[in-house]
Amino acid sequence: MRVIERISDLKAVIRSQKASGKTIGFVPTMGYLHEGHLSLVKASREENDFTIMSIFVNPTQFGPNEDFEKYPRNMEKDTSLAESVGADLIFSPSVSEMYPEGYKTYVDVEKITEVLCGKSRPGHFKGVTTVVTKLFNIVEPDKAYFGQKDAQQVVVISKMVKDLNMNIEIVMCPIVRESDGLAMSSRNTYLSMGERQEAVILSKSLFEAEEKIKNGERDPELLISFLRQKIETVNFAKIDYIEITDMANLNKLEEIHGKILIALAVKFGKTRLIDNVIVEV
Ligand code: PAF
Repeated sequence: MRVIERISDLKAVIRSQKASGKTIGFVPTMGYLHEGHLSLVKASREENDFTIMSIFVNPTQFGPNEDFEKYPRNMEKDTSLAESVGADLIFSPSVSEMYPEGYKTYVDVEKITEVLCGKSRPGHFKGVTTVVTKLFNIVEPDKAYFGQKDAQQVVVISKMVKDLNMNIEIVMCPIVRESDGLAMSSRNTYLSMGERQEAVILSKSLFEAEEKIKNGERDPELLISFLRQKIETVNFAKIDYIEITDMANLNKLEEIHGKILIALAVKFGKTRLIDNVIVEV
């Protein structure tokens, strides 16, 4: 498995892949890989000739009091996991390679970055769209793969790609869950045993809300208070937000119709977990 740290080295590989007519699939990650990330590589391999995964813990998407320093990292394990599912190459630049001294340029998508996670993590999506734009410019992929767990991130990146006329197809892959339903996340490793056991309430209550919609419930407020009550039954949970929005534009809904996103963020101790379901009615 080739691991490349320099942008110029990666560009040389990409030039030669493109010159031989290969399509490029791209899986951007911050590493500490789990089955969710690996499912993105598998999807990319099915649809592209050459799959590049990036592993870069991007400082610009973390707030001053967030977990940038302590974000879990394990390059050796990540390399063998990426290889086991057939990634062709890992791009793992340093912070100074991506943001050299004097760096000044940011990409900012308006409005849809100010709701849901954007409300509690100001500046987060500006960091995400900036690094993803840089990675897209470096990798020049045909298709890029993102997980539904970060549904707002997928909506924001899709909007950026459309608005900036980037010639890249964004593919959203389903959430991969632990056997008890907890959405896989590199941050799950922060949870204590008690918090981990309680965290299953998130997917459980989301699935129940989905079932209620399928059985005819159309009132978002009733669904949100149902979710709130269920989640508040566990000791460690502190709700950041629970919202029901239109999947396309993240606008709040007065009534359930079309393709909707039920999204939530809940803190268990110091760990903030997110989860969601997308329902179409
Ligand atoms: O979803 C992530 O892991 C990150 O936000 C991404 C897309 C790799 C950008 O740093």
